[in-house]
Amino acid sequence: MAQFRAAMTSRIFVIQGHPDPAGGRLCHALAEAYADGAENAGHEVRRIDVAALDFPLLRTKSGFENDDAPPSLRPAQEAIARADHLVIVYPLWLGTMPALLKGFFEQVLRPGFAFGQPAAGTMGKAMLRGRSARIVITMGMPALIYRWYFRAHSLKSLERNILRFCGIGPIRESLFGMVEAVGGATRRRWLEEMRRLGGAAR
Ligand SMILES: Cc1cc2nc3c(=O)[nH]c(=O)nc-3n(C[C@H](O)[C@H](O)[C@H](O)COP(=O)(O)O)c2cc1C
Repeated sequence: MAQFRAAMTSRIFVIQGHPDPAGGRLCHALAEAYADGAENAGHEVRRIDVAALDFPLLRTKSGFENDDAPPSLRPAQEAIARADHLVIVYPLWLGTMPALLKGFFEQVLRPGFAFGQPAAGTMGKAMLRGRSARIVITMGMPALIYRWYFRAHSLKSLERNILRFCGIGPIRESLFGMVEAVGGATRRRWLEEMRRLGGAAR
C-alpha cells in the first residue's frame, strides 16, 4: 500500500504570480487552498512567491542565450526541474499576466534549462517534458467574456508560446471571473474547488 501511495504522489510546484508582496489577495487564497489540498493528500508541495523575489528584468538577447539565471531565481529553476506538476496563479492585468511574472519567466525559462539552444532557423528542443501544469487566473470581467469575446489570447500565449514550447503538458486552466463582485459563498466554493484539484494533483 505504501508503495502504491508513493507511486501516486506528485511533486507539485506552486508559482504565486500575484505582484502584491503584501499578500491577502484572492490569488493567495486560491494557491493556499490548492497547496493545502495537495499536502493533505500526501503530495510534495513547493511554493514560490514571485513578489518576494529580487531579480532584474532581462534586457538583452545575448544575456538570455548566454547567461545563467540570476542567483535569486536558481531555487525556482531547481523546483521546476524537480516538479512533475506546475501550478501558476496570477490576476489578469491589462489583459495578460502581470509584468513581474512575465519578467520571472523570461529569466527562468532560458535556453539550456527550458529548451535547447536553437540552431539557425530551427526551434530549440523542449527540455521540460514530463511535466503537467494548471494555470489559475482571477479577473474582473466574467470569465466567459474573457474566453469568448477576448478569445483568452494571453492564456493561449502562456500555454502555447511559453509552457508547451518548453515541452510542458497537458495544461489545464481554472478561470475565476467577476472576482470583485461575487460574494463569500462563491469564493468559498472556488477555494473548495482548488482544494479538490490540489488533492488530485491536477
Ligand atoms: C493593474 C490592473 C489591471 C487590471 N486589468 C484587468 C483586465 O485587463 N481585465 C480584467 O478582467 N480585470 C483586470 N483587472 C482586475 C483584476 O484582474 C482583479 O482585480 C484581480 O483578478 C483580483 O484578484 P486578486 O484579489 O488576486 O488581486 C486589473 C486590475 C489591476 C490592478
